[in-house]
Amino acid sequence: MLDPAAASLDDLATPAAILDRTRLDRNLARLAARMTDLGVTLRPHMKTAKSIDVARRAFPNGPGPITVSTLAEADYFAGHGSRDMTYAVGIAPHTASRAMSLRKAGVDIKVLLDTVEQAAFLAEAGRAVGVTPAAFIEIDCDGHRGGLRVDDPALLDVAAALTDGGVLLAGVLTHAGESYALHTPEALVSAAENERAVAVKAAERLRAAGHQCPVVSVGSTPTAHCAAGLDGVTEVRAGVYMFFDLVMHGVGVCSTDDIALSVLSTVIGAKPEKRWIMIDAGWMALSRDRGTSSQRVDQGYGLVCDLEGRIYPDLIVAYASQEHGTLAIRSGSSEPLPDLPVGSKVRILPNHACATASQHERYHVVAGQSAVIEAQWPRIRGW
Ligand SMILES: Cc1ncc(COP(=O)(O)O)c(C=O)c1O
Repeated sequence: MLDPAAASLDDLATPAAILDRTRLDRNLARLAARMTDLGVTLRPHMKTAKSIDVARRAFPNGPGPITVSTLAEADYFAGHGSRDMTYAVGIAPHTASRAMSLRKAGVDIKVLLDTVEQAAFLAEAGRAVGVTPAAFIEIDCDGHRGGLRVDDPALLDVAAALTDGGVLLAGVLTHAGESYALHTPEALVSAAENERAVAVKAAERLRAAGHQCPVVSVGSTPTAHCAAGLDGVTEVRAGVYMFFDLVMHGVGVCSTDDIALSVLSTVIGAKPEKRWIMIDAGWMALSRDRGTSSQRVDQGYGLVCDLEGRIYPDLIVAYASQEHGTLAIRSGSSEPLPDLPVGSKVRILPNHACATASQHERYHVVAGQSAVIEAQWPRIRGW
């Protein structure tokens, strides 16, 4: 909710999403430098931030190449000047038509597919508005989600259906989603190498069959941060690297000091006999994501910090209902419960930044340990 009166976290109505600009900028710079060193283009995925203000910090000199996860994002970023984007979710008939209308309006939007049927209706959607569509073929590099295996005979059938239908084959795209389940440097380096090698092999198969395959697109935050080399890859997509979260901390690609997003919450009660403290952030403010439950350290619904972002040792949001969170010391820990009377404010580091950010309409922007709210950045929702 817009809270024009709040100049500082002390006055801000809770729950509210807080974005630490210092950490955001550091996270953006870290991956950008890595991609420059590895000689590939970074095409940030805006699915996490969904905010033009965040995109502008990634591209201070004007809009850069982006990835989007919804056509609402595509429309929004196009409205703010983005002209080069990949819609990285498989295309359906209705989204094909919408994407082609955007293309007609001058936006170079590339779409994603892995079947001959999708190639056919995409070609038709292009013809209906008088544009040449551009599409990536989705490659499955690790059995995580959709896409064609690199040796699937259908790969060449889909490519032929695209070119025969007058669709531009933009290239191949893969996403190493299985990397989220890893936590050792060796396993992460190996997942990144597998993602690279599979994508490059798919591109080589297409080229050997006479197709153009200009772009080889890979990416997830863990693999982007752990790839030892990216030979043959032309671009990397990553999104959650901007904010990071407890799942990424569990994977091992960030420290808790890198997590730029938190939820400001107020203490609303306590149950001393149970060693519980109640706050006004339940799953509506934090999301229901329990991504750390399958990791070595289960962070409940989030890790609790003070107003300046210092972690209370082993204090987690152990339970969440719609508008209540229950703070408790992690089981097995002998840390004391901090003294947090009703009215005290805390900040919760989220399990999954994409899910938590999506519960909020705007970010309240602070810099480092300062409680001063220097800006409010709106974000978009919907599809
Ligand atoms: C197709 C695709 N590319 C890239 C990403 C970005 O990955 P991450 O959120 O790990 O940065 C995602 C995330 O879901 C994705 O689905």
